[in-house]
Amino acid sequence: ASAVTTKKLMDMKKKGEKITVLTAYDHPFAQMADEAGVNVLLVGDSLGMAVQGEATTLGVTMDEMIYHTRIVAKSARTSMVVGDMPFMSYQSSRSGALANAGRFLKEAGASAVKLEGGASVADTIAAMTQAGIPVMAHIGLTPQSVHQMGGFRVQRDRDRLMEDARRVEAAGAFSVVLEGIPADISAAITKSISIPTIGIGAGPDCDGQVLVIHDMLGLNGGHVPKFVKQYAQLRQNAMDGLRAYVEEVASGDFPSEEHCY
Ligand code: KIV
Ligand code: NA
Repeated sequence: ASAVTTKKLMDMKKKGEKITVLTAYDHPFAQMADEAGVNVLLVGDSLGMAVQGEATTLGVTMDEMIYHTRIVAKSARTSMVVGDMPFMSYQSSRSGALANAGRFLKEAGASAVKLEGGASVADTIAAMTQAGIPVMAHIGLTPQSVHQMGGFRVQRDRDRLMEDARRVEAAGAFSVVLEGIPADISAAITKSISIPTIGIGAGPDCDGQVLVIHDMLGLNGGHVPKFVKQYAQLRQNAMDGLRAYVEEVASGDFPSEEHCY
């Protein structure tokens, strides 16, 4: 299969083919998701929560994102790789935003970047697009604004969401993530813009879906949000193996003769 491009994703929307997106942060998961046929690997700043164990995404740095994106880009054979711009890497100045976006392509081997925000970042998206950097937008529940939103809350302001979607499309974004939005609003946005919508907690009528791979493989302990479906139970599986290892080393059952030289 040939590599997935922004053009291919646009064509998939036109043909009504659903787009699959998953996060990845390291070689084994990037390789598996690519092999499974996932269209886009998003190196999300969800890194902060899924991998670093933080309560929010706010502390993730550019250097951390570049490090993980480089690993994922090297591991992907056909999936398109999108690097997620971390908090404050694109908000404080236009030239800083362009330089940071460029790093994902120049240093890490991504083919596009993602950033959060609608109308308020339209000019930034336009500048990146003009520089030849494809941009995936992200509207609705934008986790980098957690303190401004007053928590991780579903966003229900239809007029604002429709306006944000139109503005990022007009600015040249090649797709847009819709996060934490009622299904009927996501459906209306998806119909009214020409670029693919990628939903997470946004109902079934988006052009594609994205989940955090640790969530959908059941790798995290604790609370599972309503929008997540667990397609595997990796944590349970890993815990069984880890407990058995601890027991067998303690008892002397491992290593046995078959593991010896
Ligand atoms: O960081 C991330 O993983 C994301 C997706 C969930 C859209 O932004
Ligand atoms: Na993100």
